Amino acid sequence: MPLSLAQLRRNYTLYGLRDDLAQDDPLVLFGQWLDQARKTEVPPVEANSMALATVDSQGHAHCRILLLKGFSAEGFFFFGHYQSAKGEELASNPHAAMTFFWPGLERQVRIEGPVVRADAQLSDDYFDARPAASQLGAWASPQSQPLSHRSELESRLRDVTERFAGQQPPRPEHWGGYRLQPQRIEFWQGRPDRLHDRLDYRLHAGTWQRTRLAP
Ligand SMILES: Cc1cc2nc3c(=O)[nH]c(=O)nc-3n(C[C@H](O)[C@H](O)[C@H](O)COP(=O)(O)O)c2cc1C
Repeated sequence: MPLSLAQLRRNYTLYGLRDDLAQDDPLVLFGQWLDQARKTEVPPVEANSMALATVDSQGHAHCRILLLKGFSAEGFFFFGHYQSAKGEELASNPHAAMTFFWPGLERQVRIEGPVVRADAQLSDDYFDARPAASQLGAWASPQSQPLSHRSELESRLRDVTERFAGQQPPRPEHWGGYRLQPQRIEFWQGRPDRLHDRLDYRLHAGTWQRTRLAP
């Protein structure tokens, strides 16, 4: 008989998340967890990958994996095509949720808040730092639009490669960064027997307030 999914069961035993050791500032704790994930996650897991959920104008949710490219007191930064599906969803409903899963650490972090476009200068700087092939890809790919065939994409890539031959492509206007301004950050640490630790930080009038939630 094939193994049933219902029988898959792992007991989480690696770490705990104690109230007395938790940080007052969730960004400090996030930084510690991300550093640890970068050191311990085994490739091909990318420690900065996360699921980003957005909601369209009809109230339908959409979720996809993206890479976090930075975070600070200003917010959490990611990049993509402004006219992609996610770009359209964020234009009509500028709010998102991101979820990180670090299986090697038995940890999850959920971050929610309003999203704004990153400053043009920051998007320019990040675009300029990307490998040339990725820069050309941003010009060539009308992200989330239908393609008749893969050859259409390859032909578009040939066109932009010719157009920018011998020069560094500038950032296309349709491509750039977003900044999620966190209003809520929840840390989940797997514990034995499903009695997990959950610390929920919410921003109230500029101050983070922390609550322990039942698993
Ligand atoms: C590991 C991984 C990393 C990705 N990183 C990004 C990213 O940083 N930016 C991006 O626009 N898409 C990224 N993608 C592709 C997205 O998942 C998605 O296909 C794309 O953004 C189009 O989504 P949309 O049609 O909902 O806009 C990544 C996919 C994977 C699997």
